[in-house]
Amino acid sequence: MERTFIMIKPDGVRRKLVGEIVSRIERRNLDIVAMKMLTPSRKLAEEHYAVHKGKDFHDSLVEFITSGPVVAMVVEGESAVKIMRNMMGALNPEQAVSGTIRGDFTVSTCENLIHGSDSTETAAIEIELWFADLAAK
Ligand code: TYD
Ligand code: MG
Repeated sequence: MERTFIMIKPDGVRRKLVGEIVSRIERRNLDIVAMKMLTPSRKLAEEHYAVHKGKDFHDSLVEFITSGPVVAMVVEGESAVKIMRNMMGALNPEQAVSGTIRGDFTVSTCENLIHGSDSTETAAIEIELWFADLAAK
């Protein structure tokens, strides 16, 4: 069993796509083992996106992710990391194919609805950051 960290970004909450996205995860028969809604602090957002520090889009990314509530989740299942990345769709809107969350609902590189860990190593770090109590178990 594998765990991944998933976040519905502020645009997903504002556009009322929480149910749609959660439903897709459930339909795939992955398990949502933790879920909470919160507006990330600047500190949390900067830690989460530390890997992008110094890049030209970093500041606007942190601005966006702290702009309202997000839905943070831990999703569990066999190959959960890769399966969720596939369900999310590509970052480049031209490459985000229909049938994926990004491919069906957004044409924006920044306001792209969903975050998912890109490896099991990253997942462990992100779950610890967002769900410290869960990671400790
Ligand atoms: P990244 O980890 O490369 O993409 P993904 O979300 O698919 O894992 O980038 C993190 C976020 O940073 C991305 O969701 C949106 C933002 N971003 C930009 O706004 N512009 C860019 O050129 C890149 C690479 C990322
Ligand atoms: Mg990423």
